[in-house]
Amino acid sequence: MGRRTRLPRRAHAASTELIHQGWLGTPEHASPVRRGSNSSSSGIHPIANGLKLQPGDEVVVATNDFPSDVLPWLRLAIEGVVIKQVRPADQVLSPDEVTAALTPRTNGVCLTWVHSFSGRVIDLDGIGELCRSADALFVVNGAQGVGGIPIAVNDHPIDALTGVGFKYLCGPYGTGFCWLGPRSAERVSASKMYWLAALTADDLAAPELDLDSVKMPDTAAKHDMRANRQLRRIR
Ligand SMILES: Cc1ncc(COP(=O)(O)O)c(C=O)c1O
Repeated sequence: MGRRTRLPRRAHAASTELIHQGWLGTPEHASPVRRGSNSSSSGIHPIANGLKLQPGDEVVVATNDFPSDVLPWLRLAIEGVVIKQVRPADQVLSPDEVTAALTPRTNGVCLTWVHSFSGRVIDLDGIGELCRSADALFVVNGAQGVGGIPIAVNDHPIDALTGVGFKYLCGPYGTGFCWLGPRSAERVSASKMYWLAALTADDLAAPELDLDSVKMPDTAAKHDMRANRQLRRIR
């Protein structure tokens, strides 16, 4: 019983510590826009939804990537967004293959850093530079890499990095992170209003709570989920 209750809490603290202490960059690299989330998907969904893409806008993904990278965008296809699913010739998309898929309507490229099914690593810098030239966001899923390979987010031309606590960060399922770089922070608007992002325990303790006056914070907290219910249940 003791093991079951204590281990997830320790693992969660350890993964949070790793996230904040360097695996995602040294403190001087730390972006103010860096928040907890509970899976890689839960980081990519708010980006896909918060970009407010219009019919005809395009996003590039790889056909053989983990579904977390593809499904958040595919949902937007019913709204007319064009999801270009590119089949890599050799497991992961090369910069040349990405170049061939880019058009003036490309708003984003979303790929896994370390490919789930082959272990191949994409050329972060090559693809990131292409995205910068095309004015598209480069959204990277680091689920299979962060904790295994050091990364300093500001050393690469990437605009968002998501990941999970339960792989190389050795945390429990239901933990993860989503880092948004400045270009993402500018373009991604909040797509939900989660009470813990906008309120504190003191607010709730007040004799009356005026929900009409609640404002979303003007920081990355506006993207927060903080829905680690699974963790709470384990505790
Ligand atoms: C690249 C990648 N992303 C995400 C996940 C897990 O999915 P999620 O964190 O979105 O629930 C996996 C595998 O479990 C994965 O290989």
